[in-house]
Amino acid sequence: MKLAVVGTGYVGLITGVCFAELGHEVVCADKDSGKIEKLRLGEAPIYEPGLQEMLWSNADAGRIAFTTDLAAAVRGSEIVIIAVGTPSTATGEADLSFVERAAESIGEALDGPKTIMTKSTVPVGTNARIEAIVASRAKYPFRVVSVPEFLREGYAIRDTFNPDRIVIGTDRAAEIEAIVELHKPLTDRIFVTDVRSAEMIKYASNAYLATRISFINEIANICEKVGADITQVSAGMGQDRRIGPHFLNAGIGYGGSCFPKDTKALIQIAGNVDYDFKLLKSVVEVNREQRNTMIRKLREYAGSFSGKTFGIWGLAFKPNTDDVREAPALDIVSRLIGEGARVRVYDPAATANFRSLLNDPSIEWCTDPLSAAKGSDGLMLLTEWNEFAEVDLRAVEQTMNTPILIDGRNLFGDKIGAYSRFWYYSVGRPHLNRSFTKGDQPSAFLA
Ligand code: UDX
Repeated sequence: MKLAVVGTGYVGLITGVCFAELGHEVVCADKDSGKIEKLRLGEAPIYEPGLQEMLWSNADAGRIAFTTDLAAAVRGSEIVIIAVGTPSTATGEADLSFVERAAESIGEALDGPKTIMTKSTVPVGTNARIEAIVASRAKYPFRVVSVPEFLREGYAIRDTFNPDRIVIGTDRAAEIEAIVELHKPLTDRIFVTDVRSAEMIKYASNAYLATRISFINEIANICEKVGADITQVSAGMGQDRRIGPHFLNAGIGYGGSCFPKDTKALIQIAGNVDYDFKLLKSVVEVNREQRNTMIRKLREYAGSFSGKTFGIWGLAFKPNTDDVREAPALDIVSRLIGEGARVRVYDPAATANFRSLLNDPSIEWCTDPLSAAKGSDGLMLLTEWNEFAEVDLRAVEQTMNTPILIDGRNLFGDKIGAYSRFWYYSVGRPHLNRSFTKGDQPSAFLA
């Protein structure tokens, strides 16, 4: 099939490349000429395992092309995929201006009957609005189908080819054939529903997953006070098939391009119909507070931040991505330098993106974990990259000025006990924590 993909952000690019891999002919359009130029040269603008290779092979095979000319992409396509961003406005609502502009341009460019498939995360009722916008400009028949995206960054390609479900939202059931055909051979997990329910499934799924994370983080906070171990609690809970084992890892809370944005948008969507979504408001609040807990712990261990140097391991909002959107590291590094500390940061992939959002003379950009820890008065692990799990902690401890380790992702297990000089804090595992009274030197705690 011939596809036009509007928007080459995360969702658009992965969608385009994966459909090309399935054998379709794809033209991706974006108004960002710099990005299109890079893509034409075969350079993936985001870090995503497997993407670069798949981009090259499909470009070589002539199955994927890139343009700034949206109308040209739309002309000659059978399916037009809307994959533009829906960022948060100041009030938390989804900003639909990119979707609306895309719908206008698609309507104007329509040169024959087509299916328009919406992948962007949009509030309930938006596909109806897209339909109205396109209809006001189009001279040919068309239909709008909602096919929300559920991929996770870092696993985007794997998720696309092994979906838990492909939700197809249409109010005209007879018209799903083209969408089913497009997804072949991934069609054993298709779930067909109406458009509004499809729109809601996306928000409800993300809000529910965010709720699990805030829930387990609160349980972890209680575990600390009652002497239980959150990793054991999560494992025990997860064995109940009604609960399941996923999204029960306690830590510094969620970040990224979806959960923070979509939880706030759903609170607004509910508010617009006079529904006070109290539970979800608390989820957002708990997530914000969880970052503060890390700062409080560091202060408890290290005292005042002023004039001190801290190491930061991990800037991305999660491992295997270079994405720093809503990453806890942005808040935490800002707080530390705001209170007069210097920070030495290291991330295997996200340093350039982080630097484009937060660049300050108090930040030193390190190229390996050990140099980020060097001479520091405390080290915070904020992203659980595998690389950190493999670092020789004895060497880390020796290079630090004060061996305080705040493990915001519970990366280090019982083996931390072997490194008895560390003043260690992790989330909801009080038996592993080692804190000391004022004036004590860590060396006093040698086993
Ligand atoms: C998420 C959804 O999973 C995906 O379906 C949707 O399409 C987009 O949003 P993503 O943001 O890529 O995907 O990351 P995900 O792996 O879901 O993690 C989100 C955040 O939750 C990360 O900050 C992660 O560190 C955090 N998290 C996840 C936890 O803190 N604990 C967990 O147990 C799981």
